[in-house]
Amino acid sequence: TTLIVNASDASSRPIPETLFGIFFEEINHAGAGGLWAELVSNRGFEAGGPNTPSNIDPWSIIGNESLINVETDRTSCFDRNKVALRLEVSCDSKGDNVCPADGVGVYNPGFWGMNIEQGKKYKVVFYVRTTESLNLTVSLTGSNGVGSLASSVITGSALNFSNWTKVETLLVAEATNHNSRLQLTTTNKGVIWLDQVSAMPLDTYKGHGFRTELVEMLAALKPRFIRFPGGCFVEGEWLRNAFRWKASIGPWEERPGHFGDVWMYWTDDGLGYFEFLQLAEDLGALPIWVFNNGVSHNDQVDTSAVLPLVQEALDGIEFARGDPTSNWGSLRAAMGHPEPFDLRYVAVGNEDCGKKNYRGNYLKFYSAIKSTYPDIQIISNCDGSSRPLDHPADMYDYHVYTNANDMFSRANTFDQTSRNGPKAFVSEYAVTGKDAGTGSLLAALAEAGFLIGLEKNSDVVHMASYAPLFVNANDRRWNPDAIVFNSFQLYGTPSYWVQLFFSESSGATLLSTSLQGTSSNSIVASAITFQNSANKQNYIRIKVVNFGTSTVNLKISLDGLENSFQLSGSTRTVLTSANVMDENSFSQPKKVVPIQSLLQNAGKDMNVTVPPRSFTSFDLLKE
Ligand code: AHR
Repeated sequence: TTLIVNASDASSRPIPETLFGIFFEEINHAGAGGLWAELVSNRGFEAGGPNTPSNIDPWSIIGNESLINVETDRTSCFDRNKVALRLEVSCDSKGDNVCPADGVGVYNPGFWGMNIEQGKKYKVVFYVRTTESLNLTVSLTGSNGVGSLASSVITGSALNFSNWTKVETLLVAEATNHNSRLQLTTTNKGVIWLDQVSAMPLDTYKGHGFRTELVEMLAALKPRFIRFPGGCFVEGEWLRNAFRWKASIGPWEERPGHFGDVWMYWTDDGLGYFEFLQLAEDLGALPIWVFNNGVSHNDQVDTSAVLPLVQEALDGIEFARGDPTSNWGSLRAAMGHPEPFDLRYVAVGNEDCGKKNYRGNYLKFYSAIKSTYPDIQIISNCDGSSRPLDHPADMYDYHVYTNANDMFSRANTFDQTSRNGPKAFVSEYAVTGKDAGTGSLLAALAEAGFLIGLEKNSDVVHMASYAPLFVNANDRRWNPDAIVFNSFQLYGTPSYWVQLFFSESSGATLLSTSLQGTSSNSIVASAITFQNSANKQNYIRIKVVNFGTSTVNLKISLDGLENSFQLSGSTRTVLTSANVMDENSFSQPKKVVPIQSLLQNAGKDMNVTVPPRSFTSFDLLKE
């Protein structure tokens, strides 16, 4: 089999700068208990919404009923989240009813245990008021309350704390425990109210509150865009539970939080609209904001009544990129970002095309946004890959979840798509079901084939992102996912590693390729030239997926190339494994990862062997 790569300029074509990016959805505790580094779960005691008594899970009480009574009331100093925790302590440091030496109070185990690491600093912030003098111990301990990792004692007279008071304390961990909890305890009789209890590691990505090692996994992909915050999360099972950007901005203490009823968990919305925009900026990726268009899974706003939502979207755009003196832009500036964020794309809804009110609602959003912000690119939920859209749009969503064979065959999906009209945004793709397990090599290889097809069709496909991006292993709502983590561990599934092979493709130059001398349809290949941003050197990258079960002896011929190669700097990177259903895991995080070696015979004509069930890239360093 011969792969002919035409490296002459005449047949090459630029790949859009935006081709490969990421899609972040608040699913599987991807954000709350994941990317967002907040350690406390339900920090405002607000889970369960405005109801009193509120759902205070996962907070628990330390001490029995004869010593402490804990309930919620609606006396918080924060208007949008009135629930506060009231602790009535009946024991004391002396007298008839003496408190246990460690005190009574409450603890929060975080999201399946807090990861506390020796030498690291943790900022604990909370709001408190009391009827008596305050003597409150704030500590990080083991999961059963034993073994203090760090603590500080907050004291003051009743006068100091008779009104709500913000307390901040910095804890430095003396030991490591991946399954810790935060405790607030006292040995003083009296009533204490607590609200908005937060514990954050001081060390977060660029100091912006993101869990560093998780963002580093994203940064390695060099994503050119980030679509957020969902998915179904944006729609909600019911409109009342959809993500509403205005409730997710401003001081974190004042955010009401909400219950995401599709993926069935509460989020305090510490990772809100502003933070998503900040994350995009920190990654050097363009933000793509998906907003609710008045359609959820089970209810819809009539097009005649959708204008308030249209205004909400316009306000959201103004918040992101309006002048710092504008109504909503000033709020962004107050949050520490006077410069506008680079918002150029919005998506009207998610997977709503077939729903009754979608087109009517969409058109209202489209015309209002285009007339106020003509440059904003608007993404429709209706698939235009096989026939033209019946409404105006700059791009359209294309989602595909399927088995491995079907995904691999979809490398050709966009071959027949009209070259005119809106461009495709493959905003969600993944192999699912038994071929994928919780992240198999088989799934990843099929996706590699599909992505090669997208790269070759990047004149009509302008963006692509895998879904879902993250899963906290303690709350697998969806399989598979690209990055798996718990409180302290993480690994990429083979599907994550496949994306890394495409990290240089956005903005690169596509070379034309043809496979000859084979009737097999289990091989696909593409070639690009790009400049490595780190060493500024030029490379040709040839990617080959062998989806079949036999080794392929491949001759690669480079036509039309004047330059020769530096043998020393050319490499081969292979993703394969002994069994096609192999997966990575916390115990074997690198079972299926790309392995790089030097390519000894780099040249205009190369004979290479491509292993069965593999994805290989040949990086040829041009002289
Ligand atoms: O990626 C998981 C879900 O799949 C998304 O929320 C939704 O858009 C799709 O159905």
